[in-house]
Amino acid sequence: MKKKPIIIGIESSCDDTGVSIIKNRSVLSNIIIHQKIHKKYGGVVPEIASRLHDQNIIKAVQKAIFLSKINLDQIDAISFTLGPGLIGSLLVGAAFAKSFSMGLGIPLLTVNHIQAHILSHFIQNANINNSYPKFPFLGLVISGGHTQIIKVNDFFKMEILGSTLDDSVGEALDKIAIMLGFSYPGGPIIEFFSKNGNDKKFIFSKPMVRGLDFSFSGFKSDVSQFIKKQLKINALFVKQNIPDICASIQKIIAEILLEKIQKAILKTGISRIVLAGGVSSNHEIRRMFMSFAKENKRCEIFILKKKYTTDNGAMIAITGLLKYERNLHDSIHVTPYSKFKIF
Ligand code: KG4
Ligand code: ZN
Repeated sequence: MKKKPIIIGIESSCDDTGVSIIKNRSVLSNIIIHQKIHKKYGGVVPEIASRLHDQNIIKAVQKAIFLSKINLDQIDAISFTLGPGLIGSLLVGAAFAKSFSMGLGIPLLTVNHIQAHILSHFIQNANINNSYPKFPFLGLVISGGHTQIIKVNDFFKMEILGSTLDDSVGEALDKIAIMLGFSYPGGPIIEFFSKNGNDKKFIFSKPMVRGLDFSFSGFKSDVSQFIKKQLKINALFVKQNIPDICASIQKIIAEILLEKIQKAILKTGISRIVLAGGVSSNHEIRRMFMSFAKENKRCEIFILKKKYTTDNGAMIAITGLLKYERNLHDSIHVTPYSKFKIF
């Protein structure tokens, strides 16, 4: 019988050090070390992030190996995030992965972070549907770094149909959260406070962007101006209206995303939608997409379990595994890239 490959995946593109070991498509261990220090700066400080990856990476690898109950010599290949992301952070993961690959004499597999968010749906039992999406499908990647609609024809045949022209949706949520007095990352805090809010209380204008592209910077400024104006009238405005403000913002964001996906369905004729990235753990976005699928019987929505929405090592390991199975090994001479690169 063919041996089931064991892959270790390293994620270090931003502020989370993620290390995961998978056997075939099932997760043996998945360690994430969050860098909480950035909370007090209102966003990720790149210099601090890379130093902390350097401090945390060995700890995360040792823990992942221990929990997976495997020996080092059982690992068939190592995969790591090559980009996009913060260059200093990426370099820590790359240096570790290259040394590990050379030390053990195993293949090195580079991973595109955005592709990995989408391919995390191929981890066994990673999504709430408990099934793998069939090709072709439309991937909606909504995270702190990216907002994209991607046509996925096959594991490594992806085509970008739309992207944000400025801020990503997560970035806009994080910046709005800071305006409201919350800490970084703000998305989950806005979600928390929205729970008992009236989502129709405040109306913000939706960005008018043609085609399948997005824009969130104007929306963010619109919210900022509105809050400043209200604070001039009533200094306690934010304090007194927090649930309604959060619910209204969240609702509009969910509507913007759903409207674009409806457009993409019409344009491509593909009605299988796969959500990925940290913002896809938001309950209102999930609820609106699922209710859309309920009303449109031909539409299928794939949603990840929360732990696989935000950055993690398992998404890097599964992408590595899919490359390993196709002999898509990489050279030891690769270098990380910070900006988005075409797949
Ligand atoms: O995928 P991710 O961990 O990192 C990137 O690749 O960027 O996404 C992080 C983003 C942050 O902007 C964070 O505020 C947002 O995901 N986020 C959420 C929620 N959980 C995380 N946004 C809205 N609702 C949430 N529950
Ligand atoms: Zn990410």
